[in-house]
Amino acid sequence: MSDFSENIKQHTSGLTPVDGLKKLVELFPGEVIFSTSFGWEDQVITHMIFTNNLPIKVFTLETGRLFPETYYVWGRTLEMYGQPIHAYYPQAEAVEKMVSTKGPSSFYESVENRKECCGIRKVEPLKRALKGNKCWVTGIRADQSVSRHDLHNVEWDGGNQMVKYHPIFHWNLDEVKAYIKDNNIPYNPLHDKGFPSIGCAPCTRAVKEGEDFRAGRWWWEDQSKKECGLHETDNIIVTK
Ligand code: ADX
Ligand code: SF4
Repeated sequence: MSDFSENIKQHTSGLTPVDGLKKLVELFPGEVIFSTSFGWEDQVITHMIFTNNLPIKVFTLETGRLFPETYYVWGRTLEMYGQPIHAYYPQAEAVEKMVSTKGPSSFYESVENRKECCGIRKVEPLKRALKGNKCWVTGIRADQSVSRHDLHNVEWDGGNQMVKYHPIFHWNLDEVKAYIKDNNIPYNPLHDKGFPSIGCAPCTRAVKEGEDFRAGRWWWEDQSKKECGLHETDNIIVTK
């Protein structure tokens, strides 16, 4: 286990999300980075970072297949905070090759094809974005899925050799919504139309009353295979 995770373990325990982020910046100056998909959890964290002027680079993975509503909230977020949100695009040649040989919707045909698309449009750009950093901040929350329940707010990401920090890991959805409302934070209008979790447009649908939070993601696939590779499961938990 890395020294970084040991440091985080000692220093962030019991802190509020903002204080936790400040502590990380202190521990790893210039090496903390936040990924946003513009979902409501990410909007909360973006607000915390920008309004506190935290020196944390905010980035998004622009897969080329996002919803128009996601581009809308991206624009509103830029207007509201006037701070850069770095866009990482997939390698053009890899997308061209995949789409030219398999068509624009190959991901519906097999899990292998779906993982290939996520690999090209998300995972490779993510690796590029994370390079040179020591701490990756995300909007993951425990009650988003059964598998996320077993995670913790600080993890050691063995694959990327860095600490992962989920500042609002213990918040429930009502707390997220209340924070957004209280602070007048722009959010994706799809959230009000049955989309609790929003990814790429062709791979996300609305969920029905009582359905799981992530039931609308890759809904045609077997539940156990619904991983896009952004958040691998080989993380080692270092603290609660
Ligand atoms: S996913 O693995 O199923 O796609 P999810 O949508 O739950 O992830 O989001 C969890 C966290 O992953 C977000 O809070 C954000 O930090 C990161 N994330 C997901 N999609 C993107 C994206 N397109 N760009 C940047 N970060 C993302
Ligand atoms: Fe491709 Fe769908 Fe994965 Fe987006 S979520 S990268 S469109 S397979």
